[in-house]
Amino acid sequence: ALVSMRQLLDHAAEYGYGVPAFNVNNLEQVRAIMEAADATDSPVILQASAGARKYAGAPFLRHLILAAVEEFPHIPVVMHQDHGTSPAVCQRSIQLGFSSVMMDGSLGEDGKTPTDYDYNVDVTRRTVEMAHACGVSVEGELGCLGSLETGMAGEEDGIGAEGKLDQDQLLTDPEEAAEFVKATQVDALAIAIGTSHGAYKFTRPPTGDTLSIQRIKEIHARIPDTHLVMHGSSSVPQEWLAVINEFGGAIPETYGVPVEEIVEGIKHGVRKVNIDTDLRLASTGAVRRFLAENPAEFDPRKYLKLTTQAMKDVCVARYEAFGTAGNA
Ligand code: G3H
Ligand code: 13P
Ligand code: NA
Ligand code: ZN
Repeated sequence: ALVSMRQLLDHAAEYGYGVPAFNVNNLEQVRAIMEAADATDSPVILQASAGARKYAGAPFLRHLILAAVEEFPHIPVVMHQDHGTSPAVCQRSIQLGFSSVMMDGSLGEDGKTPTDYDYNVDVTRRTVEMAHACGVSVEGELGCLGSLETGMAGEEDGIGAEGKLDQDQLLTDPEEAAEFVKATQVDALAIAIGTSHGAYKFTRPPTGDTLSIQRIKEIHARIPDTHLVMHGSSSVPQEWLAVINEFGGAIPETYGVPVEEIVEGIKHGVRKVNIDTDLRLASTGAVRRFLAENPAEFDPRKYLKLTTQAMKDVCVARYEAFGTAGNA
């Protein structure tokens, strides 16, 4: 059944688990996530970015998600709009039937320029008023997503600030977070704690302090009833990087957020964990390997089936690690 983010994350908070929110753009991603949830008895958050809506079209995404709900009626599913850049964008998603929206007022309508606090409060509060009137949940964002190591926001063509960020922009201020939640009444809050979008988060192997767990604790202590959201939570599986590079790819050395650090965050109030890059890497690795090993094959179903399996394996691992499994 389709559920709101609030319903799902309230349950996650009560039972102390986290829920991966996977980005979806096509059938294979939706199927991989649903099959993994079915196999592990996990609730699901499917989220569509502006890029996904541009790629597939909002109606196709909506119907893919509704098809998932129809085929797996026993699994709670949140249909979430990722990184809305204005109340108008969120309004369109609410009208389409999304059960949750993100109003990312930390950046302007271009998805690149950092905004000031008052702007963020204004657009987020307006979105909450509209969404709550329709039973739809809202995620806000306070702080600038960026790598604590490099100071960079990550993906060049995606959502994120341009150029190098100051160290104090990279960590959400706990007092400001408390004020923000009070002023906007958001259900969930995305915080900056050292992660960035995309595959290029860290240049060196992790040593256990990729995230500021201390900052997560401080924020959670100030706003214990607000569900914390971690964007940029891909772990960038080294085994899939190796497959991609073995079969014709050229991805430079790079590292993501270790699963164990995310699990530590979940112990301190993180309830929604955004993952996109890991499924992209797994599916690309599966396609490259299959086509390299089977050069005469041309039926897309042959390799898309393998991408589905590769993504499903990643999803199962996250559902189990985050404690989502068994909670559908
Ligand atoms: O917010 C970032 C997500 O990974 C979505 O990326 O805009 O390329 O679909 P995208
Ligand atoms: P990754 O790029 O780490 O997968 O993060 C995705 C995300 O935060 C989507 O909003
Ligand atoms: Na931000
Ligand atoms: Zn994000």
